Amino acid sequence: MCGIVGYVGGQSAQDVVVAGLRRLEYRGYDSAGVAVPADGGLASAKKAGKLVNLEKELKDRPLPAGNTGLGHTRWATHGGPTDANAHPHLDNAGRVAVVHNGIIENFAVLREELTGRGHHLASETDTEVVAHLLAEAYSSAGELAEAMRQVCRRLEGAFTLVAVHADEPGTVVGARRNSPLVVGVGDGEMFLASDVAAFIAHTRSAIELGQDQVVELRRDGATVTGFDGHPAGTRAYHVDWDASAAEKGGYASFMLKEIADQPKAVADTLLGRIGASGALRLDEVRIPPHELRDVDKVVVVACGTAFHAGMIAKYAIEHITRLPCETELASEFRYRDPILDGRTLVVAISQSGETMDTLMALRHAREQGARVLAICNTNGSTIPRESDAVLYTHAGPEVAVASTKAFLTQLVACYLVALYLGQVRGTKWGDEIRTVVHQLSDIPRQVEAVLGTMEPVRELARTLADRDTVLFVGRHVGYPVALEGALKLKELAYMHAEGFAAGELKHGPIALVDEGLPVVVIVPSPRGRSVLHDKIVSNIQEIRARGARTVVIAEEGDEAVVPYADHLVRIPAVPTLLQPLVATVPLQVFACELATARGNEVDQPRNLAKSVTVE
Ligand code: F6R
Repeated sequence: MCGIVGYVGGQSAQDVVVAGLRRLEYRGYDSAGVAVPADGGLASAKKAGKLVNLEKELKDRPLPAGNTGLGHTRWATHGGPTDANAHPHLDNAGRVAVVHNGIIENFAVLREELTGRGHHLASETDTEVVAHLLAEAYSSAGELAEAMRQVCRRLEGAFTLVAVHADEPGTVVGARRNSPLVVGVGDGEMFLASDVAAFIAHTRSAIELGQDQVVELRRDGATVTGFDGHPAGTRAYHVDWDASAAEKGGYASFMLKEIADQPKAVADTLLGRIGASGALRLDEVRIPPHELRDVDKVVVVACGTAFHAGMIAKYAIEHITRLPCETELASEFRYRDPILDGRTLVVAISQSGETMDTLMALRHAREQGARVLAICNTNGSTIPRESDAVLYTHAGPEVAVASTKAFLTQLVACYLVALYLGQVRGTKWGDEIRTVVHQLSDIPRQVEAVLGTMEPVRELARTLADRDTVLFVGRHVGYPVALEGALKLKELAYMHAEGFAAGELKHGPIALVDEGLPVVVIVPSPRGRSVLHDKIVSNIQEIRARGARTVVIAEEGDEAVVPYADHLVRIPAVPTLLQPLVATVPLQVFACELATARGNEVDQPRNLAKSVTVE
């Protein structure tokens, strides 16, 4: 939530910062602003609404030229999305400017203190107190980095802060606690950003900042200390994707591009997983094999779409390892006092690696002695850094707010984790593992095939654009797929959409079915666990008898469903456990098309942000 950019170098700071904000707009789009120290003072501009409003303002009234600056794109927490609440916030003398991501929990006390000392605060935000505190601290410290350290020691909550001062036109100072901030190292220029996407067009060299660290950026380098002023260690890394990966590449939206990217994303996530010895490999495993053999329970924690991936992981982990596995919403996890100990393995799934609920759940798990394995798409983010083991999904940057390729690659990662546990614990033989990996390696081709047959799905979506409700039902691994289909439609089309386990219909939800109600049914394969198939065919008949218009997603060759399908969507025949990898794709296309037909902007749905860094 909220995107932050800082820059110091030889280029126009305004241009670099605004271009960076454009790439971070997925993080929040309630308002945007920039500040540039120039001509002995500090110039700034900010506007409510999307970045385009700020760009227009800057076109009409450009800031004075300067080579140092910062910017912000906001997802509102404290105070509505107005010009006054937009960042940056300045002190009363207009000498210091600050942008912030997160929530400063003790801001009310600090605000009262500041007004008591004669400061005038112009916004309703928690952030503005920091600008005033920095100005006070600067007057005694005489140095922005030291002022930042002093202020950070007083703050409670989660924050990334970036500040500039009129008296230090060649410096940008950042700080982070429980909220993301990375450094980009260029040639004679340095960057700060919430996400590497902001500076990837300039450099692929990055530095991770740790918890409770302050960084001072100059053209020639960066100095990193703890909030206490002691020099701090950092980790440099190379970003393995380039600027073109963060562009739309000719598609009308990032979401369409990311749906189309899925075959490659799945293939990349599988790449190099089988080592020379024939054994499966994860990226980083700091848990000794004997501890993994001692694990007696797995708990998966995640939010939203990643939670749906976690629900499917439960089927895979229990089936492959015979270990009991629970999947829990990260936001609920720590508040119910879960039973955890040294023999519990917690799997935290997160595309961004910064979701606060998931981060807090994993910290709680580690405090209780559990080991944590992260499945994450973002190198250098907090969740993998705080975990004992990591499996990175290699989906590349996901810019559209609604998750698509991250979901598919999270599923692949969940299967790999299940297989890895099966390998270490000896519940699966090497050849059994290789068979599943081989089946997985055929998925990119099968997803490609699904993508090639989506025109009827798009057509159907357009005809349903005026409906109020769509229901989704599935069984077994098709149940989380139904939930995911409903979530995509809610967030993109702003429609009432619900997913149910098909077996639950008769226990209540079937009362929602009336004449013409679209119900999407994800049908399990008639092969293998065919009992599931027979049951869902009965469910389709029950809802159709009550007037539902059925949209049936069934594998090639499944003829039993044909008489009951008002619309039939074919997917390739794959093993039952892997079916979500192909069955989800039509639901993504359906939601994207329906939302577009309703005139909604699919990349930036209302009220949402990509990276949820507040609880
Ligand atoms: C929905 C969506 C969200 C995220 C959720 C978790 O399309 O994108 O539900 O899945 O906010 O985000 P990460 O995976 O970054 O932890």
